Amino acid sequence: MNHLTIVDHPLVQHKLSVMRRASTPSNQFRQLLREISHLLAYEVTRDLPMTSERIETPVCAMDAPMLDGKKLALVSILRAGNGLLDGVLELIPSARVGFVGLYRDEETLEPVQYYFKVPEGMDERMVIAVDPMLATGNSSAAAIDLLKESGAKNIKFLCLLAAPEGVARMKEAHPDVQIVTASLDERLDEKGYIVPGLGDAGDRMFGTK
Ligand code: URA
Repeated sequence: MNHLTIVDHPLVQHKLSVMRRASTPSNQFRQLLREISHLLAYEVTRDLPMTSERIETPVCAMDAPMLDGKKLALVSILRAGNGLLDGVLELIPSARVGFVGLYRDEETLEPVQYYFKVPEGMDERMVIAVDPMLATGNSSAAAIDLLKESGAKNIKFLCLLAAPEGVARMKEAHPDVQIVTASLDERLDEKGYIVPGLGDAGDRMFGTK
């Protein structure tokens, strides 16, 4: 398994560039995030187990490929995770959904948990944790810790942007978790923002600041 997968498809890269622009308004930002999340979902679900089912087409019978196994779980890391969640859920509407509430202490940059609710049977599901920004990796690694405590064994992490620091932190803490992202950016600034990044994803999405 590649620990880091960068989806460098032209559609993803173009949409991401428009999202990065400081002048892009929240409604367009959300719409683009939804569109990109469809394309990222395609990549992150690439190795879902398959089975086949005998079906009748209008022409003949065939063994048709179908998704196998227990329904997967999407876990949004609040609050910005919801922006990615909506689009992925559109593509996989039967997925179960969980939420992890973590906020980043602005001084220590350490994650603080305030909410945790996930579906039953996490040990049998493929789990896709979604958070647009993998910055320091502290909150992402903490969220994955919580998911593993709930029984999850097969976890992927889907984000829009990743910083090298966050990728390294995740690799150290959770080498078994594949990261799928649209871009590996340059670095973090002194406030823990991704550079060049797109600013605070939650604020950009919801128009707060
Ligand atoms: N979280 C964000 O929303 N943006 C960053 O650049 C880093 C963390």
